Amino acid sequence: MLLGPPGAGKGTQAQRLERAHGLVQLSTGDMLRATIASGSELGEKVKGIVESGALVPDDIIVSMIAERIEQPDCARGFILDGFPRTVGQAEALDAMLAEKGTGLDHVIEMSVEADVLVRRISGRYACAKCGAGYHDEFQKPAKEGVCDRCGSTEFSRRADDNAETVRKRLDAYEEQTAPLLPYYREKGLLRSVDAMAPIDQVTREIENVIAGGEH
Ligand code: AP5
Repeated sequence: MLLGPPGAGKGTQAQRLERAHGLVQLSTGDMLRATIASGSELGEKVKGIVESGALVPDDIIVSMIAERIEQPDCARGFILDGFPRTVGQAEALDAMLAEKGTGLDHVIEMSVEADVLVRRISGRYACAKCGAGYHDEFQKPAKEGVCDRCGSTEFSRRADDNAETVRKRLDAYEEQTAPLLPYYREKGLLRSVDAMAPIDQVTREIENVIAGGEH
């Protein structure tokens, strides 16, 4: 599990772990954006919440994850990116995993100072075709305007990546998600990496934690 505020680099690192370890990235943010894009009734219901920067109710999120982890591609393991985000979600996850006879291997806190988060989020964009993530300053494609991974020339920015919504997302993190740090610390699962470091260095720190080394 990657735990950290908006813009900490959870999605960036989850994509790398997915490729390096053959695990599946489960991003509740991506799932919600796909649901909104589908135009379904549920999508209509959550659109306003996501665009305001508030958290979507636990019952919706928990049933989304419960359904997803039953899919065959999750059998080898998965990376939780952006879930859980409340103590209620964390307790529901514990129950789900216990029922499957499994549990969490690593909970990795990505620690970043608040002032860099807005800069990271406001410069972020992604390939519109394959979802690979980029940044105007920190993570440009090798060839300008062409996705490194799939060659597409179409990119998109998120509707909730504006200054006002980002502030609300940071508040939601402090109030509702930060209590998960003591929750997992007490269980002896929490490890922390310095997510202020350059992207490759953060990847090395995470790999070190996964390998059971010092960090
Ligand atoms: P979600 O999509 O999960 O967004 P988030 O948690 O706000 O996180 P971000 O995607 O903004 O940041 P990230 O940590 O993944 O950073 P990234 O790698 O992109 O959630 C969106 C919304 O959905 C929520 O507000 C809520 O409404 C709803 N939602 C989702 N899950 C929910 C849940 N469980 N319960 C209730 N509601 C839920 O990096 C950011 C940028 O910085 C990128 O451009 C990247 O290139 C760059 N970057 C990354 N690392 C570095 C580095 N080390 N140095 C420099 N630049 C870096």
